[in-house]
Amino acid sequence: MNQRLNMLRQLLAAIVVVAAIVGFSSCEKYSWMPEKINPTDSVHFQAEIQPIFSANCSSCHGAIKAPDLRDGHSYKALTEGGYVNLPGETSELYTKMIGTDHSPRSSDVDKQKVLIWINQGAHNN
Ligand code: HEC
Repeated sequence: MNQRLNMLRQLLAAIVVVAAIVGFSSCEKYSWMPEKINPTDSVHFQAEIQPIFSANCSSCHGAIKAPDLRDGHSYKALTEGGYVNLPGETSELYTKMIGTDHSPRSSDVDKQKVLIWINQGAHNN
């Protein structure tokens, strides 16, 4: 009787261990780590920000729909249109990008880049 109980216990322990391993590895599989950007690295408008707009925004935001995010127009439209200000978290460009309707239109990394670019002074660099 006792021996059976022991076997049962060992079996239970084994199941717990296997479940834990499966649990952790599946957790690993589905856990998602956002790509991090070093906020001290300079973010360049032409090389890093404009491509985000050209790929994701300027199909809608052109000559008619403000802000005009086409290459060559976007910097003026954003700065003169009052879409960027400090702190970047409060600027309309950023709040729009993280808002529910616009959020799917850019990746988290792109949003981070835009925020860092604004907080670095929104330079036309
Ligand atoms: C499918 C079309 C579409 C795309 C793509 C799009 N937008 Fe928009 N956007 C709109 C529309 C429509 C509005 C006005 C309604 C609103 O405020 O949501 C708008 C509003 C905005 C506003 C506020 C404008 C204002 O003066 O109130 C900003 C800023 C903005 N978009 C930025 C972006 C950025 C940045 C991207 C790319 C990551 C983007 N949008 C992609 C359609 C689009």
